[in-house]
Amino acid sequence: MLNVAVLISGAGSNLRAFLEATDDPDFPARVVVVGADRDAEGLDHADHFEVPSFSVPYANFPTREAWGAELAEQLRVWNPDLIVLSGLMRLLPDNVVTEFAPRIINTHPAYLPEFPGAHGVRDALAAGATQTGASVIQVDGGVDTGPILAQERVAVEPGDTEETLHARIKPVERRLLIDVVRRIATGALVLD
Ligand code: GRF
Repeated sequence: MLNVAVLISGAGSNLRAFLEATDDPDFPARVVVVGADRDAEGLDHADHFEVPSFSVPYANFPTREAWGAELAEQLRVWNPDLIVLSGLMRLLPDNVVTEFAPRIINTHPAYLPEFPGAHGVRDALAAGATQTGASVIQVDGGVDTGPILAQERVAVEPGDTEETLHARIKPVERRLLIDVVRRIATGALVLD
């Protein structure tokens, strides 16, 4: 059974979908803890599934590294086999990436390397793209630059807003994430 820690910053709709998938006893992974960099509303999903959670508020720390050191401390308690960034809107400092890589993956609402960063959906619209996508990548020291583990194209429809396009991308992100975690859990995909 693969023990997974999920990190979020916001509503956690992707976390919710992942918790529903891992709640199936036949799924080869389980969420052992959910962490957030703020008092994220998505932590309620962990409570709903009776999964432990923690918050390490970024605003409480003088530097990104100090925040990362506390985050690593919290994660170490749960000894996760895999860390999933699912809507964590914060770059992990090197001290965290160095300690847990290559066991960190991230979902991104664009077809990387297109539109990396915190506003992938908005940037695709601004660029007039007719298609974008969803990606699951391994986290390295860069901004959405790690090895691509899975990705799929998503059409941009005329009249799309950031909200309507993101709503079309998220279900694809969720499906890709669940499949990647299943492949990691069964050894079909090895992170190195
Ligand atoms: C997801 O699209 C994620 O890839 C991006 O932010 C969104 C988080 O949505 N980084 P939610 O918090 O899971 O609803």
